[in-house]
Amino acid sequence: MTLPGNGTTSSGVRLWGGRFQGGPAEALARLSVSVQFDWRLAPYDLAASRAHARVLARAGLLDADEVGRMLAALDDLEAACASGDFRPTVEDEDVHTALERGLLERLGALGGKLRAGRSRNDQVATDLRLYLRDHARGVASRLVELADALVEQAERHVETPAPGMTHLQHAQPVSFGHQLLAHVQALLRDLSRLSDWDNRAAISPLGAGALAGSSLPLDPVQVARELGFSAAAPNSMDAVADRDFAAEFLFVAALCGVHLSRLGEEVVLWTSHEFGWVELDDAFATGSSIMPQKKNADVAELARGKAGRLIGALVTVLTMLKGLPLTYDRDMQEDKEPVFDAVDTLELVLPALAGMISTMTVRVDRLARAAPAGYTLATEVAEWLVRRGVPFREAHEVTGSLVALCVARECSLDEVPDPDLATVSPHLTPEVRSVLSVRGALEARTTPGSTGPGPVSDQLAAVQDRVESWREWAATRVVPR
Ligand code: ARG
Repeated sequence: MTLPGNGTTSSGVRLWGGRFQGGPAEALARLSVSVQFDWRLAPYDLAASRAHARVLARAGLLDADEVGRMLAALDDLEAACASGDFRPTVEDEDVHTALERGLLERLGALGGKLRAGRSRNDQVATDLRLYLRDHARGVASRLVELADALVEQAERHVETPAPGMTHLQHAQPVSFGHQLLAHVQALLRDLSRLSDWDNRAAISPLGAGALAGSSLPLDPVQVARELGFSAAAPNSMDAVADRDFAAEFLFVAALCGVHLSRLGEEVVLWTSHEFGWVELDDAFATGSSIMPQKKNADVAELARGKAGRLIGALVTVLTMLKGLPLTYDRDMQEDKEPVFDAVDTLELVLPALAGMISTMTVRVDRLARAAPAGYTLATEVAEWLVRRGVPFREAHEVTGSLVALCVARECSLDEVPDPDLATVSPHLTPEVRSVLSVRGALEARTTPGSTGPGPVSDQLAAVQDRVESWREWAATRVVPR
């Protein structure tokens, strides 16, 4: 490939090359090219180009006829990109190069005027912010749908008892709806983090040029406004060097991935023969190629497994950034694949999880039987003693002895006869039986945030309100036409 000084190859366009005698080596070109993955920034690059064309016109650098033709060509190019009539070629180094080629094909020399006052450095930072702000809303919509699925199941199971666990050991009875809502709380924090991130990401780098701003009378504040940003970057060097928005988005995505993984792990356990709390719908379970009886929770396992690549994406970008001198360095081209992969991963996993949760059948009978098992009502006994004036330290000891007796006899707490209760401790009068029911234990929990039917219903209503407000946020549009 030989490159004459005008940066045009026999078949392609280059955005540099005037000072070069020969063309790039094949090995360099192959390393350098990013269009195979950054092409998805094209709609955002075109939006930024429209805003830039208008600013050049206001600066008197494009006359009325020129800006009209420029905007029409950008629209035409956008339509051609969308229809697939315009495609990047192997000769296009990146999305910016490909789109400049498209513009030159449509406008000839006029197409070359758009690059005035901007650089791929401020362009790519702008494009990636636009892409992420747009896709953060898509991810938020999918999160809301998963929250919907969990909330709907929770609504059915406010009063379904389940054994709550710590250390994966039966601890205290809980409402199964309460446990499902615990996962929704994590998703609500993810949504809150996304919108909080969005406020910080809404800064426009355009106008920074390569790093120093421009000697042309551009208007970065107006460009920022047109592109839906809340402000223009206050420092042109930071504008092109900063990738905090990418790293921070990836943290939000990674933590969300961890939440999905923990939910996935629970479903894996719940669907196991040993638990048997939940039965998956056939549409959201898989079989085995050799064992005909198998019904596997692959959706849940993949949700768990995908957390690894989300965490990896964050680590990739942080590691790439850590030693970089200001301002732009080519290393930063490595920010895109992890970002795209994180978005794709969440957009893939969330709908599958939502479908799995909304179609699963909760085995209320199995949960009810499991709820008191493992002496989950022992704390009720200890607190009953406390209400009768026994110091908690002693109440704990007494209840522990009672449990030991039950373990030895392989019986449940309510199966110990009155005289034996009295032998364990004179405090253990037959009235203790009043607290030895799962329903009683749940109903006794009336403080806000606890697992009783009252507070769980209150929580449910509050969660539904918050999900609605995130649904509205997710539907907002940031990228202008
Ligand atoms: N493809 C590049 C990237 O993604 C665009 C910016 C290139 N800038 C440059 N000066 N080489 O980072």
